[in-house]
Amino acid sequence: MTIGGGGWKKKKKPPFSRVLASPAGMFDCWRMPIYRILRPLFFALPPEVAHAAALAGLEVAWRTGLLRPPAEGMPVEVMGLRFPNRVGLAAGMDKDARHVDAWGGLGFGCVEVGTVTPRPQSGNPRPRLFRLPSAGALINRMGFNNEGAPAAAARLAHRKFRGIVGVNIGKNADTPAERATEDYLAAMKAVYGVADYIAVNISSPNTAGLRDLQAASALDALLSALTAEGERLADQHGKRVPLAVKLAPDLDDDDLAAAARTIAAHPVAAVIATNTTTDHASVAGLPHAGERGGLSGAPLAETSTRVLAALRELLPSRIDLIGVGGISSAAGAREKVKAGADLVQIYTGLVYRGPGLVRELVSGLAE
Ligand SMILES: Cc1cc2nc3c(=O)[nH]c(=O)nc-3n(C[C@H](O)[C@H](O)[C@H](O)COP(=O)(O)O)c2cc1C
Repeated sequence: MTIGGGGWKKKKKPPFSRVLASPAGMFDCWRMPIYRILRPLFFALPPEVAHAAALAGLEVAWRTGLLRPPAEGMPVEVMGLRFPNRVGLAAGMDKDARHVDAWGGLGFGCVEVGTVTPRPQSGNPRPRLFRLPSAGALINRMGFNNEGAPAAAARLAHRKFRGIVGVNIGKNADTPAERATEDYLAAMKAVYGVADYIAVNISSPNTAGLRDLQAASALDALLSALTAEGERLADQHGKRVPLAVKLAPDLDDDDLAAAARTIAAHPVAAVIATNTTTDHASVAGLPHAGERGGLSGAPLAETSTRVLAALRELLPSRIDLIGVGGISSAAGAREKVKAGADLVQIYTGLVYRGPGLVRELVSGLAE
């Protein structure tokens, strides 16, 4: 299927006998055609209702054995961790870590849950998620709706998924900016024992003041505090959990360079580039283009790849890079790798292309 152009590329279908041979075949062989049928149904629903329905369907498919074991990818070592393949689920899709095992069943080598905040919060009023189908894009202003870090941690403690789980942390909306560090520390403490890595989200556009934490002095203070607490938690838990920092695509060259210098001065293991953009110029004139929030999907691809490539130049090689933003094909994922990504993540591509995209990327990047 192609997005943006609005049509489906013809794909060779497997023999019908293979599909009938096993229920899993329904999902595995005809994954794209099934999603081709389901997508208009999902898209007829309000986006958040469709999101909940899709995740419920995924969970049923997983629990009833309709998903096959993950395809073999090419394992890679990133942040000192062994990832079964290079493809991860981006933060925000499964904020409360409800479906981690099922994501593994789709073939993801890594699932980043969250953003979680120390205390539960309901996020912004609805509607807060909008589709721009002709652009293959979404605009969201969810505002970290989540059940809180302890709830996600409790679920993660019981996961069976053998891939990597990152926990993305942020601050509560009602925490004043000058106390933001306390929120990150509290969230880190709550999830440290169950996380393979922790992603520090200072780049969501939907929490007032959050992006200001990317400024060098604020970032320096935050990373100092997180590193010190990380040392203490590593002793307590008998394991060291690497830190990743997630950046916005909207920093100018000077601010990006300053952020990179600050990150390089701390024991940060990876940078995730990028979050959504507040620049909606690329979709101007389309329905919903004027909604407040972060734009994701195809129109973000080029900008986020540019930021990724710049970061590869700016950062020392010991800091790994995770490329995210507008990936909707194996070619798009390879662009990120070419720009310096050690891993890739997807969110919006999954909405438009369906679950078959995961294996397409896993095998496309293993070639
Ligand atoms: C509805 C929605 C919610 C998101 N929530 C979060 C979040 O809670 N934390 C975060 O770090 N990124 C969040 N993101 C950003 C994604 O993780 C990703 O960085 C961004 O969407 C670009 O990737 P994509 O073009 O593949 O969607 C969200 C994105 C969307 C579309």
